[in-house]
Amino acid sequence: MSKLWGGRFEKESDPLFKAFNDSLRFDYRLIREDVEGSVAWAKAISRAGILSTDELAKLTAALVEVLKEAPSGEAGPPVDATDEDVHSFVESRLVAKVGQLGKKLHTGRSRNDQVATDLRLWTRAAIDERVKELKAAALSLVGLAERSGEVIIPGFTHLQRAQPVVLGHWALAYVEMLERDMARFSDARKRVNVCPLGSGALAGTAFNIDRAALAKDLGFDAPTRNSLDGVSDRDFVIETLAASALCATHLSRIAEDLIIYSTDEFGLVEMDDGVTSGSSLMPQKKNPDACELLRGKCGRIVGALTGMLVAVKGLPLAYNKDMQEDKEPLFDAMDNLSMCLRMLVRVIDGLVVKAERARVAAMGGYSNSTDLADYLVDKGVPFRDAHEMAGKIVRVAIEKKCMIEALPIAEMKKIAPQVEEDVVKRLTPEAVVGRRAVFGGTAPVRVKEAVVAARGRLS
Ligand code: ARG
Repeated sequence: MSKLWGGRFEKESDPLFKAFNDSLRFDYRLIREDVEGSVAWAKAISRAGILSTDELAKLTAALVEVLKEAPSGEAGPPVDATDEDVHSFVESRLVAKVGQLGKKLHTGRSRNDQVATDLRLWTRAAIDERVKELKAAALSLVGLAERSGEVIIPGFTHLQRAQPVVLGHWALAYVEMLERDMARFSDARKRVNVCPLGSGALAGTAFNIDRAALAKDLGFDAPTRNSLDGVSDRDFVIETLAASALCATHLSRIAEDLIIYSTDEFGLVEMDDGVTSGSSLMPQKKNPDACELLRGKCGRIVGALTGMLVAVKGLPLAYNKDMQEDKEPLFDAMDNLSMCLRMLVRVIDGLVVKAERARVAAMGGYSNSTDLADYLVDKGVPFRDAHEMAGKIVRVAIEKKCMIEALPIAEMKKIAPQVEEDVVKRLTPEAVVGRRAVFGGTAPVRVKEAVVAARGRLS
């Protein structure tokens, strides 16, 4: 079909301009939403007296057929399609089916309110999918906490062994992050779920459209309140990308932990063969590629967010073609985040925890020093002095190349006379984690409760 806007032009488009300007190649992904919005719009203009009941029925049937006959949004447009964008594509197919009647559909509508509506419909569905995937990822971490929750691993600060924690506590820390991500997506959804259709090009449609009914037909909570804002607001894209970027950042942190923990040097966990790869040269290698990509894909998702922020910065009201740049980063970010979330489940479900090795690692690094100080506090020593004495004892142990609890009691007494035989049982990793029984702490009793609570929230 000829262009939607050819009337006032004498010359054809420059071919390079056409290639530059056309968006069909990527916005074809919105075909389902474009048809859905068009069906609702047909209904809205028939309520306004522009279409008869018969015309509405014919248009609706034809639109449904257009969708049925077209390749899916994911498959991409037919190779021979030369339409400018998905809106032109649908309209030209419609006119090919029902002729003059098809030309009535665009009455009172602009591609400006149309594309904003399509993209909101798409984003709403994408958010719902991401929330589901986040829930599955969080549940897989809860599963890990359940099956290996009491395994003691070193806890790190500055990536130096700090104090032992149980693995379940580590897993549930990420569950907290993923739950906040779910909440952020759900919150963004509230502002996604309003209907710009009826805003026209910018000033509001001149026809008597019941926008509340139209919004309802498309499952939106309400129509947008201001037509200028309705066609030019891309906050909903930015908010969705912001939630995605933070989520991807969390995934990069889990991935990094696992990459480090699975090295020979740390040896706390081993990844399943199915999510690792080998080297074409070095026969011994087992590389954590899945986790490295979980870490690496964060870059493009954060890039999508910053790209959109910059694209919108300084745009005058209302619609500008710059806004066409919203789709590719949004689609790319959503596709990749989806893959990351699904990949994480595979990584976590296949994780083998090396409990013995982890316990030994947790005992090293003098990570029970705090507990020696706490022990002295229990014997009446003020904490500052206890810290000093424990530090001196650690130094002796370092000199003797042994653990604190391997020092003779007499040796410790020289520095801290309050030390008795009972110190030894206070310094085991089990005792150390067990004493952190405060709400939110790593004691196995608390972690068990936390597992139950997290499962309850997630199901
Ligand atoms: N392809 C355009 C976009 O994605 C559709 C809206 C075009 N509107 C216009 N006035 N040219 O933004």
